[in-house]
Amino acid sequence: MEKIAIASDHAGRELKEDLKEYLKGMGFEVVDMGVDNDESVDYPDYGAPVAEKVSSGELAKGVLLCGTGIGMSILANKYRRVRAALVNDVYTARMAKEHNDANILVIGGRIVGKGLAREMLKSWLEARFEGGRHQRRLDKITEVENRIDR
Ligand code: RB5
Repeated sequence: MEKIAIASDHAGRELKEDLKEYLKGMGFEVVDMGVDNDESVDYPDYGAPVAEKVSSGELAKGVLLCGTGIGMSILANKYRRVRAALVNDVYTARMAKEHNDANILVIGGRIVGKGLAREMLKSWLEARFEGGRHQRRLDKITEVENRIDR
């Protein structure tokens, strides 16, 4: 069973719970890294463990949610080998995989409803990276990663 990590802050928790059930229904083993209540928390505390698992290669995919998705995507993209895509529509979700090989999908729990969120998640999961010229572009991002002093 393929594993996928998921995490949110308080503003994304309701959507996280819904997407978790959806992912289970699709046959995934969901690694829920919190948050598990509605108290206000800091999104980096919950996003970082997911980004670390994807960055290290322990898990191939992750889903992050906060209010807008902005904070989680800024955070996740600090990590080497993480390509986190903040999406608000189904086309972008599909392209995030086909062209960008995004390994973390980020959604704003205060922006997107459950139906659209499920459709975006499904499109991203079912899409396939096209490689070719897109791989060349990702290689250039990796070159930048390797040049930056971290
Ligand atoms: C929390 O209020 C909110 O700032 C957070 O969920 C997220 O939207 C940050 O980008």
